[in-house]
Amino acid sequence: MKFFIDTANLSQIAEAQSLGVLDGVTTNPSLMAKEGIKDSSSILDHYRKICEISDGDVSAEVISTDLNGMIEEGEKLAALHPRIVVKIPMIKDGVKALKYFSEKGIRTNCTLVFSAGQALLAAKAGATYVSPFIGRLDDVSTDGILLIRQIVQIYGNYGYETQVLAASVRHPMHIIQCAEVGADVVTCPLNAITALLNHPLTDIGLEKFLADYRKSVS
Ligand code: G3P
Repeated sequence: MKFFIDTANLSQIAEAQSLGVLDGVTTNPSLMAKEGIKDSSSILDHYRKICEISDGDVSAEVISTDLNGMIEEGEKLAALHPRIVVKIPMIKDGVKALKYFSEKGIRTNCTLVFSAGQALLAAKAGATYVSPFIGRLDDVSTDGILLIRQIVQIYGNYGYETQVLAASVRHPMHIIQCAEVGADVVTCPLNAITALLNHPLTDIGLEKFLADYRKSVS
């Protein structure tokens, strides 16, 4: 399973990259706004910087909601760097844009997916990645992981190549459950990735090993 970091914060991306387990980056307009990136030229610059400090695919989201706008913006984003993946919302014109980009060989990530039907449409339109938002489903008492399981099964039934990218991942258990049900990718905040490191028995065990070593050499 690939690990993407879901942020536009350059120092968090660099920290995740330095761990050696990072496979890519996803962003969205809210995450860009959080970093204070506002006008369109700073947005493009920021995507370039993200590509420079990370190795894998970088999802860059369009703001337009009409087909022509999405095409114009998406082509500009894709031209920035070969690892840019154009992020397109799951709306009617978005499906048309996914098809357009897939025919042009431009890779896409279909975002704001909350149902298996939407995921099926994204795959049929040739999306490279589909992003079901599991945390936001959990927030409304709907099982986000169940949706990942369904999509993985449906794509497997028909051999769709679209990769299931679990998004809106909030904590380490989400990551583990995504791995159990066969998600291709999880995108998560840095603290969810680093939380996987933690176990009190590791800390206690290390303390004892070091204490025993110190006793033996004193
Ligand atoms: O990138 C989209 C998604 O990961 C957002 O997560 O926590 O705002 O629901 P969240």
